Amino acid sequence: MKTQITELFGIQHPIIQGGMHFVGLAELASAVSNAGGLGLITGLTQRSPELLANEIRRCREMTDKPFGVNLTFLPTVSSPDYPGYIRAIIEGGIKVVETAGNNPQKWLPALHEAGVKVIHKCTSVRHALKAEAIGCDAVSVDGFECGGHPGEDDIPNFILLPRAADELRIPFVASGGMADGRSLVAALALGAQGMNMGTRFIATQEAPVHENVKQAIVDASELDTRLVMRSLRNTERVLRNDAVDRLLEKERSLGVNLKFEDIIDEVAGVYPRIMQTGDMNAGAWSCGMVAGLIHDIPTAKELIDRIMAQADDIIRHRLTGFLTA
Ligand SMILES: Cc1cc2nc3c(=O)[nH]c(=O)nc-3n(C[C@H](O)[C@H](O)[C@H](O)COP(=O)(O)O)c2cc1C
Repeated sequence: MKTQITELFGIQHPIIQGGMHFVGLAELASAVSNAGGLGLITGLTQRSPELLANEIRRCREMTDKPFGVNLTFLPTVSSPDYPGYIRAIIEGGIKVVETAGNNPQKWLPALHEAGVKVIHKCTSVRHALKAEAIGCDAVSVDGFECGGHPGEDDIPNFILLPRAADELRIPFVASGGMADGRSLVAALALGAQGMNMGTRFIATQEAPVHENVKQAIVDASELDTRLVMRSLRNTERVLRNDAVDRLLEKERSLGVNLKFEDIIDEVAGVYPRIMQTGDMNAGAWSCGMVAGLIHDIPTAKELIDRIMAQADDIIRHRLTGFLTA
């Protein structure tokens, strides 16, 4: 399939694996890229620019296809060494960066000068327009359904994507709730040039996470996610578990007085315990409503081939079958 996104990133299929903390390691990124999509290493999971440089080298040993790096700009006071990460990306020969979180404007000149294309992930039309105005090459439009941080507007993709299509001139991919060939065709119909998937890629053979995490996604339905940290304006969609129930109870009882310190046990440093140890009640971890559409744990290639075959069939047969002469 050829779209503006496949052309922009030099990939075979318009499918991106979004950055995921403690999931987006070289194993998954290379598997997605080898299957013709765009795999992304999650920059901040590597605790230093040197470790990121090493992860990029490791990924390059596993694939000769294009892959990228996600760099999430956190709203924290003590900022990670972003100049160091940017240097590791450029010196590592990376040509695609997915930015997320705060405005990436400051880093665009250096990235563009090095020939790096930037796709900024955002959850509203106004932020997408801002990304376009500052010179991003594409955006990933993340709807309310998404795993991770859906923002504070709560606009689902059936509205958000056509709104983005009406306003944007740069290409965009649909993110949040994407799982299969139906999602891809729907995303294209709504104006996107491809799709970005997070949760779906965790439940693949190559995702370097504990089997308990993959099984939890397979077992979950679309009713099993919760939004946490809304009152801190840092809303996150997570899979319900004991820690999330505890967190929600604290949110209910403390109301507007809730502070980050009150929920630190449930949210800080939990990713290694969940993703590596498989301790499924260790804390709150991002997961999309799309879990309800995930019933198996294929390889990345089986998943992507299946998506493309289903999309092809829907476009060629189902949709054209509706047309009358
Ligand atoms: C476990 C997990 C961790 C994530 N970590 C990050 C992250 O570190 N940076 C980021 O930009 N997005 C992160 N995301 C969001 C994904 O990149 C993607 O935008 C989102 O999962 C799309 O929604 P979906 O899960 O419905 O496919 C994460 C998502 C999940 C499920």
